[in-house]
Amino acid sequence: MKKKKIYLGMSADLVHPGHLNIINEAAKLGEVTVGLLTDEAIASYKRLPFMTFTERKQVISAIKGVTHVVAQTTLDYVPNLKQLRPDIVVHGDDWREGVQQKTRQRVIDALSEWGGKLVEVPYTPGISSSRLHAAMKEIGTTPERRLKTLRRLLEVKPIVRLMEVHSGLTGSIIEHTRVQTEQGPREFDGMWGSSLTDSTARAKPDIEAVDISKRVAMLNEVLEVTTKPIVFDGDTGGLPEHFVFTVKTLERLGVSAVIIEDKTGLKKNSLFGNEVAQNQDSIEEFSNKIRMGKAAQATEDFMVIARIESLILDKGQEDALQRAQAYIEAGADGIMIHSRQKTPDEIFTFCTAYNQLPQRRPLVVVPSSYSQVTEEELIERGVDMVIYANHLLRAAYPAMHKTAQSILSHGRALEAEGDLMSIGQILDLIPGTH
Ligand code: SPV
Ligand code: MG
Repeated sequence: MKKKKIYLGMSADLVHPGHLNIINEAAKLGEVTVGLLTDEAIASYKRLPFMTFTERKQVISAIKGVTHVVAQTTLDYVPNLKQLRPDIVVHGDDWREGVQQKTRQRVIDALSEWGGKLVEVPYTPGISSSRLHAAMKEIGTTPERRLKTLRRLLEVKPIVRLMEVHSGLTGSIIEHTRVQTEQGPREFDGMWGSSLTDSTARAKPDIEAVDISKRVAMLNEVLEVTTKPIVFDGDTGGLPEHFVFTVKTLERLGVSAVIIEDKTGLKKNSLFGNEVAQNQDSIEEFSNKIRMGKAAQATEDFMVIARIESLILDKGQEDALQRAQAYIEAGADGIMIHSRQKTPDEIFTFCTAYNQLPQRRPLVVVPSSYSQVTEEELIERGVDMVIYANHLLRAAYPAMHKTAQSILSHGRALEAEGDLMSIGQILDLIPGTH
């Protein structure tokens, strides 16, 4: 008799005995095809897998009982099922409840079209990918793995979402904060080492007065308590001869990218625009800085992203686009376009023209002044990375100031308590405090 066609969808990232059990059970029923979820499919509902698709495919193909491995490009099984029309789909019985219920029902409905059936294998207790993932997270990451993650995210995410970091504590908020939405769980993909918030947290102006050693000391605090990738705000990059050392330092730490802006001389924060004296660098000089930075890196993975200040300084769209083209030719791995307008219109105009460039690279935006724009709208315009550049610090300062005022006004702390986390909560906040 012809062997039955069995389909088994899996991520197979951290392969454990639970996987082997399910493959074993499936192989008893017939010839097993594993629908291996692509990085994109996995990243659509949880963190990137530790291993790439190619690595996972290599592992799963070598396991006894697996005959074929095909890519499953969506969380939804239906497209692959319609194509392969298996007799049986095998899955762990743990998906009857929770977020996967709908996916399960769609599998049952699709199979019924050709008389296929679903076989559910009892879940192997005591071990799960989620628990292994949690354990891996606790163990941490290596500089190399962290560095590479940004490029992987850019490949598989509709948009990469960064939040500003200026301390270990803000790093830990970015690492762990997760919300449930109708589209599934959501978290930040990585961190932005903002010059504005790193300076402001030290009560220093954002004029490159906090030197690179100090900035790197802050990064080290963050690296120690997080695993997500970091994009560093390199300000102007300083002199090209100095920038090469910044690139080497960041790369050695496992920072994924540096963004430098095309300004020269005493830099002021971009959101001032032309209200203060600021000079844009020439295309030639800035391209040279990019070239020197790119030549200094040791890996293939580190990214130098060029930030264009033409819209900030009212130089117009054409100047911005011309610079984008030139900086990409000089070797920039991405372009950040900044704006201080109250609407996203000029950013959208830029996106349309930028998307036509033959050598288009990832595009980064920072919606601080035009915060009404949604990630959905940015994705529609082809934006690859969005940075929330100052929001945690802007949240913290008014809260701290209000508490300081309350204690002064009342001559005691009781009235402020309502706004504060409890002593118990702060003692529990950081693991290892007890
Ligand atoms: C920063 O966060 O420091 C930036 C973005 O460079 S902005 O403040 O808008 O210039
Ligand atoms: Mg900055």
